[in-house]
Amino acid sequence: MATSEALLAVREIHTYYGDSYVLNGLSLELAAGRIVVILGRNGMGKTTLIRSIAGLTPPRRGEVTFAGQSLIGKPPYAIAQSGIAIVPQGRRIFKSLTVRENLTLPTSALAGRQRARHDSRKHWDLAGVLAEFPQLAERMDNTGGALSGGEQQMLAIGRALMANPALILMDEPSEGLSPKLVQKVEEIMHGLRAHGHSILLVEQNLALAMAVADSIYVISSGQFVFHGTPDELSRNAGILDSHLGVSAARSH
Ligand SMILES: Nc1ncnc2c1ncn2[C@@H]1O[C@H](COP(=O)(O)OP(=O)(O)O)[C@@H](O)[C@H]1O
Ligand SMILES: [Mg+2]
Repeated sequence: MATSEALLAVREIHTYYGDSYVLNGLSLELAAGRIVVILGRNGMGKTTLIRSIAGLTPPRRGEVTFAGQSLIGKPPYAIAQSGIAIVPQGRRIFKSLTVRENLTLPTSALAGRQRARHDSRKHWDLAGVLAEFPQLAERMDNTGGALSGGEQQMLAIGRALMANPALILMDEPSEGLSPKLVQKVEEIMHGLRAHGHSILLVEQNLALAMAVADSIYVISSGQFVFHGTPDELSRNAGILDSHLGVSAARSH
């Protein structure tokens, strides 16, 4: 992938919490319309990577560019307005507000308002989101807290779509969901890709990552230890075993 085509480019970022050195020089690229997955176990730095891109925990060194513009030094609201939406870990919907309110509150309504001419992704409004997630349409007047985990995840994704972001950062959407609902998340990801969305997905779920990724980076202790296609990862027993806890012996 040519660097000039990257919608998102992260170069050699170093991110800390106080004295704690968490991301040790990560670089990645994401082309428009692709799903890039960051795969890694708990505590490896996935959420910190999302926070670094979104300006919530800015890197101390390194560069992040989005649509050719540097995000370094920009506050989180400005980064959101430039067209990046987050679907946070643990969903973080408003539990005391209704589904309708969750979807229509203008939290980041300005995100993505500047659309590039070549941008062919779907434009979302309330009717479009409800058509994509019919289960939410049936529960518009229920509070977020009354929804199942799977419905809350749909609500969190629907809420991000309402901002019409050019890039969606998704933090472990499969966490805590039953296998059936993880399957639903997989279908949602395929749908978003078909609608032309660009997604950076961080996950621990190997099967989900393999099913939806155009490209996978494996993160271990704040460093990427692998970058390749799902197919290449499936043939890399060393990485699967050492960094993802998948033992080759298990498949016998
Ligand atoms: N607010 C914080 N302050 C200090 N250390 C943190 C904070 N958040 C995360 N960490 C540490 O940073 C490392 C990476 O965490 P995180 O990015 O949340 O990992 P992941 O999302 O992959 O589970 C972990 O060692 C974690 O304990
Ligand atoms: Mg995390």
